[in-house]
Amino acid sequence: MRRIGIVGCGHIGTVHSYALRRLTQANLITAMVTATFDTDFARAAEMAKHHDAQPYHDLDLLLDNVDVVWICTWTSGHLEAVARAAERGLAVFCEKPLAATIEDCRRVHEVLATVPHQVGLVLRYAPVFAQCAEIVRSQEFGRVLTTIFRDDQYFPVQGMYGSTWRADRELAGGGTLIEHSIHDIDLLAWILGAPDSVSAATAQRFGCEGIEDTAVLHLGYPDTSRAVMISIWHQILSRGSTRRLEIFCEHALLWTEDDYLGPLHIQTSDGFLERCGSVPDWANQLDLPEVYEKSVVQYATPAKAFLDALDGSGGRSNGFPTSAEALASHLLVEAAYQSAAVGGVPISVVAL
Ligand SMILES: NC(=O)c1ccc[n+]([C@@H]2O[C@H](COP(=O)([O-])OP(=O)(O)OC[C@H]3O[C@@H](n4cnc5c(N)ncnc54)[C@H](O)[C@@H]3O)[C@@H](O)[C@H]2O)c1
Repeated sequence: MRRIGIVGCGHIGTVHSYALRRLTQANLITAMVTATFDTDFARAAEMAKHHDAQPYHDLDLLLDNVDVVWICTWTSGHLEAVARAAERGLAVFCEKPLAATIEDCRRVHEVLATVPHQVGLVLRYAPVFAQCAEIVRSQEFGRVLTTIFRDDQYFPVQGMYGSTWRADRELAGGGTLIEHSIHDIDLLAWILGAPDSVSAATAQRFGCEGIEDTAVLHLGYPDTSRAVMISIWHQILSRGSTRRLEIFCEHALLWTEDDYLGPLHIQTSDGFLERCGSVPDWANQLDLPEVYEKSVVQYATPAKAFLDALDGSGGRSNGFPTSAEALASHLLVEAAYQSAAVGGVPISVVAL
């Protein structure tokens, strides 16, 4: 049984903790949470209770007593925790973004590359986006012409996030583009391939220095197709986190407004189709209240994939995506910030 330590016991650490507990209880993984650590000890102690685990006051003590670490601190804390785990050769699941600056993102990548790891870019596990990727790759409806992606959520220092660090550039690295839409950048790269240019505009209206609440990116691709990505933090507290993806292919428009199961709507010359995603069969074995099923399985799936990869390789294999894919997305985000800083001049991504 692999011993898992959770480092950072806030919002997403709690989601991972819950998903891992259900997976362990259903015998779907050969691992269990045995240790927790947070700079706020009360949080570590509270989480530990649910697993009968040991809460630690000291990160090194936790690391000496586990086989795998889930790094869920706020973004600026990832590098140190990852580095100390990697010194011991531990397997690491690291939350996104890798770090708050591009230099630290490179360092996190270099360190993660020395150990079995996976990055928390979980949208790659969403069935609806897997369908998009498959359709685009197979050219079932011809080549991609243009893609439009909108991601919006309320400014996440309130409501279910309740985390003031997202208003602090040193801790978060920036606003909606790096903190939230690093997911979207990664997803677009996975579905469409790597862009070769980006131009961007950003704006900040909520008084937090260096925390943009709007980012609009124009992405160019080697095959001359284009994508527009709009990332927004607003103040509509009744509106949950929402994504809308539209991909115009030569012979179909694909679109979805649900970032997990879809449905994926497809309009062709013959009319309309719908393809619905489904949760994995094993998810029925998790003892979950229906209201939590979708959100927990979204995180249980990548967690199980990582632990399965470790099991299948004697603890040596990476999960997916790796820090290399995550770093590529960070380089694109950095290029977008550079472009925005000089009035939207297109930046060649190949030249980075
Ligand atoms: N993959 C996803 O879908 C997803 C969703 C939400 C958040 N995240 C990412 O997860 C990370 C945490 O976000 P959150 O919403 O859980 O924030 P949070 O504020 O709710 O929790 C962060 C926790 O980390 C603790 N902490 C900070 N520095 C620490 C350190 N050096 N060592 C140990 N503990 C430390 C804090 O005390 C806090 O309890 C961020 O990087 C965020 O971008 C990912």
